[in-house]
Amino acid sequence: MRDQVLTWLADNVPASRLQHILGVEQMSIELAGHYHLNVEKAAQAGLMHDLAKYFSKSVLLEMARNNCLEVDPVCEATPHLLHADVSAIVAKDRFGVQDEEVLQAIALHTLGCPGMSDLSCVVFIADTLELGRGNTPELEELRRISRQGLYKSVWLTCDYSLKFLLNSRCLIHPRTILTRNWALAMSSSQKTQSKDHPADTVTA
Ligand SMILES: [Fe+2]
Ligand SMILES: [Fe+2]
Repeated sequence: MRDQVLTWLADNVPASRLQHILGVEQMSIELAGHYHLNVEKAAQAGLMHDLAKYFSKSVLLEMARNNCLEVDPVCEATPHLLHADVSAIVAKDRFGVQDEEVLQAIALHTLGCPGMSDLSCVVFIADTLELGRGNTPELEELRRISRQGLYKSVWLTCDYSLKFLLNSRCLIHPRTILTRNWALAMSSSQKTQSKDHPADTVTA
């Protein structure tokens, strides 16, 4: 299936975006290996996360409505945000992906979602931190943190994206904040648990 997807991508996204997609695939594989998750699923979700990245606003809105996706006011104003959900639709309809966890990881790669699976966390982090995003000290630090805990990494990746959105005066989707608060709470409760049960830290 990978070759089929790559052939489709070559016709539907520019070469620079293809590099980003391959970077997300690679980092998703690495993080999945690090956290003992299903590497094959991570690779699939990484490879297909941006299938709809270059769909026009009208196509994104039409596909979202046809598939009964919620189009809230922020998505209405910024239809580009729908490319994550629409990419999952393309993965299912065009490439026959049936695995719900893979489809969710694709659909949540931009905004995340409180309670998302570890696989979704991996693709969410990889989308922002893959090597092609640059090598500023902040990104390098976030890459280091991505190996220290999924929740901590999701939380700080959200903070990084939120700072970017504030600085560039873009609309902020409320789900980014919900994802950030959830990941922060999960990261803190993990820390508290390991303090309460020091033995767990040894076996973790
Ligand atoms: Fe994307
Ligand atoms: Fe992406």
